[in-house]
Amino acid sequence: MEEINKRRSIRKYSNKEVEDKKIDKLLRAAMQAAGSRLGSEPWEFIVVKDKDTIEKLSQMSPNAKLVSGANVAIVLVANMDRVHYPKVWQQDMAAAAQNLLLEASYLDLGAVWIGTAPIQERMDYLSKLFDLPEYVRPFNIISIGYPAEGLENKFLDKYDETRVHYEKY
Ligand SMILES: Cc1cc2nc3c(=O)[nH]c(=O)nc-3n(C[C@H](O)[C@H](O)[C@H](O)COP(=O)(O)O)c2cc1C
Repeated sequence: MEEINKRRSIRKYSNKEVEDKKIDKLLRAAMQAAGSRLGSEPWEFIVVKDKDTIEKLSQMSPNAKLVSGANVAIVLVANMDRVHYPKVWQQDMAAAAQNLLLEASYLDLGAVWIGTAPIQERMDYLSKLFDLPEYVRPFNIISIGYPAEGLENKFLDKYDETRVHYEKY
């Protein structure tokens, strides 16, 4: 799959608007992810295009500053009322996040994962910002836009044969 190879974290964006059709595709890709139990996946998504809210997202923590340049941000949250295996909620969410990033690469968008869970103060910040009920846990923010000039998704060989073990470690 070409998208797996060319996906890169892209942190600067042009002013070009991300089309709603593409946002829909991102969400559909995220929800196709492997989950710990079919029908009980915890994922839900808060799509943010409003500039003021994007600015507030960028103030979550130092690592979130770049979100201020995003055209759209998607906040991934877990609805713990729905989940069947609560202990693996972050694994479910990570699978959805990776699918979303791969779809962004496929659609020639730039995107990056902004680390949030399990850092409590970042989670609290988002819970307060969106007035989330206590059974909904913020997982991460994905910052999205068309890549700024000079940036693109492109292949970088990350394969390392020393990390592969056959039959025994
Ligand atoms: C759990 C996780 C948290 C991350 N948090 C951040 C972050 O807060 N800010 C950021 O710029 N990139 C973040 N990233 C992106 C990584 O820095 C990036 O994937 C890594 O540098 C490899 O680069 P690549 O995505 O281009 O392969 C995060 C990625 C993961 C998987």
